[in-house]
Amino acid sequence: MKKWIALLLVSAMVLSVAACGSTPGESSKGEDAPPASDTKSFTTAVEGKLTMATNATFPPYEYLEGNEITGIDAEIAAAIAEKLGLELQIDDMEFDSITEAIKSGKADIGLAGMTVTPDRQEEVDFTVSYATGVQVVIVTQDSAIASVDDLFAEGASHVVGVQRNTTGDIYTTDDIEKEGLGTIDRYGKGAEAVQALKTGKVDCVVIDNEPAKAFVAEVEGLKILETEYVTEDYAAAMSKDNKALYDAVNAALEELIADGTVKGIVDKYITAE
Ligand code: ARG
Repeated sequence: MKKWIALLLVSAMVLSVAACGSTPGESSKGEDAPPASDTKSFTTAVEGKLTMATNATFPPYEYLEGNEITGIDAEIAAAIAEKLGLELQIDDMEFDSITEAIKSGKADIGLAGMTVTPDRQEEVDFTVSYATGVQVVIVTQDSAIASVDDLFAEGASHVVGVQRNTTGDIYTTDDIEKEGLGTIDRYGKGAEAVQALKTGKVDCVVIDNEPAKAFVAEVEGLKILETEYVTEDYAAAMSKDNKALYDAVNAALEELIADGTVKGIVDKYITAE
């Protein structure tokens, strides 16, 4: 067969697939759309939907506004879903249930200000990183703790509040608890750890910088130490067993980063200092 005839046939096939596909909005996207979305070469937990697992206690990445989950991650997921011709569904759960939801295939994408760590990489695949986070320390305004290093000083014995199974928990468990330099109080929500700080049950809270800012703005008498603990990359967690979906989501996210959509969403929630 002549090459150009073959090409014509191929494009006719692509056109007819696009025409009968039940993906509203997709056909108008033209050549920019990732090929996977035209043919739906991937499968999702629920057909036609992109199911996102999150823990909506983490402003400005995900939090509840009334009954609705909103924030940076929710908007990024909505943009990915749109690109793939899927409807976004968000499932709110405990932070430490997200990885299991992804592994079991109940959810397609874990988007929760989640830090890429080597241990987690053994459980799930991470997309490209779309943001950075910094673990910071929140203390009361009159605290004797003046810098992160005070937590690791010889003879230190602080009670540190964290959200269970977050990197703040993982790092302080290693650096403080295992070193005999204090104890870690683990809470289901970052805001609960912050309340414990307010009421004097813990001496400080180790948590990501953006929620830290949000909590400190809400609760009087607290401040964030200027010294930073650890800088990390946020990415979306996905199953290792659904390569086609991973490729489609990752490609969509890469496009959204390249064309400035992600930056626009982040800037909407995080005002530059
Ligand atoms: N970045 C930290 C981690 O990955 C905290 C994330 C907490 N996210 C949340 N939605 N509660 O462990």
